[in-house]
Amino acid sequence: TALARSVAQALAATPRLVLGLPTGRTPVPLYRALVDLYDRGQADFSQASTFNLDEFLGVPPTDPRSYRAFMERQLFDVVNLRPSRIHFLNGAAPDAVAECARYERAIARAGGIDLLILGLGANGHIGFNEPGTALVAGTHRTRLTPATRRANASLFGRAVDVPDEALSMGMSTILHARRIVLLATGAAKAKTVRQMVCGPITPRVPASFLQLHRCAEVWVD
Ligand code: GLP
Repeated sequence: TALARSVAQALAATPRLVLGLPTGRTPVPLYRALVDLYDRGQADFSQASTFNLDEFLGVPPTDPRSYRAFMERQLFDVVNLRPSRIHFLNGAAPDAVAECARYERAIARAGGIDLLILGLGANGHIGFNEPGTALVAGTHRTRLTPATRRANASLFGRAVDVPDEALSMGMSTILHARRIVLLATGAAKAKTVRQMVCGPITPRVPASFLQLHRCAEVWVD
């Protein structure tokens, strides 16, 4: 896809690129296209770093239902990313607050995120920044809405088995990325895309805060 080529170009221009990555169904074709470019020698991840947006609380990285395991299947195990440059929130860390602080420090140490790719929750969430009366700036522990747990049911079998809490980059972590690409596909997201782009900036639609970013792109079908 065109976005995979754009990512490959960014990697060619800045080999030490710091990428922020999402999970969900939406980015699967992008990851497939990136693996394809890598197989053809047209994408090189050897010096790049990655930071994923979020992880379920209480789910260790080795659990096949974790976002970490999802990313290994989709991308990490099939391209030449250095394992030491792959960064992830550990959902099973004994101290969630310390884990979130560690993640913020790691992002800062990497020089910040150059290119952050985002999916869009049907309820307007980005990462696991759920709609509400307030948003949190930094990486934090958060409670998932019933709708989000239903949307993630495929990983766990049933919605009731989806953890009700997660760790997620915060709104400030997201908005500090130098370039943001939000991906949204399917008619089911159309109304949310409209609210994000044309509606008021409100914590009821966390993605609406992307209107404040100077280099945010929305890629839709
Ligand atoms: C999850 C993730 C988000 C993702 C969203 C959309 O809740 N935490 O980062 O963007 O779902 O998922 P999908 O692409 O499957 O619609």
